[in-house]
Amino acid sequence: MRYKSVRYLISDVVPSQFLSKDVYMNDRVALSEGTQLTATLISKLKMLGVQYVDIRVPDYAADQIPPTVNRSTVQQQFFSHYDNTLNTIKQAFDNIRYFNEVPIQQMSELAYSQLAPLSSAVGVINHLHMVRQQDDYTFHHSINVAIISGILGKWLGYSGQELHELILAGLLHDSGKTKIPLEILNKPGKLSPTEMEIMKVHTIFGYKLIRDLPEISEPIRQGVLQHHERFDGSGYPFQLTSKRIHPFAKIIAVADMYDAMTSDRVYRNKLTPFTVVEIMVDEMFNKLEPSICAVFLNNVRDYFTGNIVQLNDGREAEVIHMGHFLAARPVVKTSDGEFLDLEKEKHISIINMLDA
Ligand SMILES: [Fe+2]
Repeated sequence: MRYKSVRYLISDVVPSQFLSKDVYMNDRVALSEGTQLTATLISKLKMLGVQYVDIRVPDYAADQIPPTVNRSTVQQQFFSHYDNTLNTIKQAFDNIRYFNEVPIQQMSELAYSQLAPLSSAVGVINHLHMVRQQDDYTFHHSINVAIISGILGKWLGYSGQELHELILAGLLHDSGKTKIPLEILNKPGKLSPTEMEIMKVHTIFGYKLIRDLPEISEPIRQGVLQHHERFDGSGYPFQLTSKRIHPFAKIIAVADMYDAMTSDRVYRNKLTPFTVVEIMVDEMFNKLEPSICAVFLNNVRDYFTGNIVQLNDGREAEVIHMGHFLAARPVVKTSDGEFLDLEKEKHISIINMLDA
């Protein structure tokens, strides 16, 4: 029998289960991998504020999968699926640019049959990070925002038709950019104030493109129109404040910000997800809806455990533990065996993600 490691909330753990990974407290191993949990140990972990542990569970599926199917194969499958959707979205956007027509059937089909399954793929947030590139940014970005909106929607409890509509809204959110002159859209540098004002109109262009389509629901329209509105009224196009912003727009805003900052752009290199989480924690209380942003940050961080990163002192390290969600900097173990709590070692930072 093979086993796999599954992360459990501490409240869901029961006595007699075995730990599949060490539990760390203040950079030290508090309980070792392989420890069998008892009721006393579980209540001590709760008292110490441990929120989750990794538990060894039988992996029935693994026994049926040939040993050659490993994580990179799963990644390969993800990438080829992703490439197919990329070609479809390119054609769709060309259609809008040149014929002023949204191929809505094609876009709905893409959202429901291609992107919804990608939103459920294991490790999808990490895969997205590995495919980021600056070519065709708008197309990649549209797909990524659709997928991330779907993942976040699920974490928030959306399902069925509503979840599909959210994914479609994510896919369409920047479709108004097809109406922005290419020299502004692809400008390799900062936009002038006038160019910025033109760029902002993409929200209204996008809304107008889909407004009269019978297949499009009101939440999708509002998601597209309002995705740059901000909690404190500092967004555009109408400077709406929190209560007047549709939940779809708030979800897309979080997905949009995360994807934009973790992508390479012509004028800057992508930021690591760790830096982005740090920035989003700052933005959470005035720009983004705190309740939605907190769910995103809390969940997305679980994906980072186990990732291999490069530190600014040149060393490679593995992310061991992400800590409380307001503490954006993780505990890492360097290749020479040192444990570092980056919340305390502020002079050391992660500059690159090497493997996810
Ligand atoms: Fe946008």
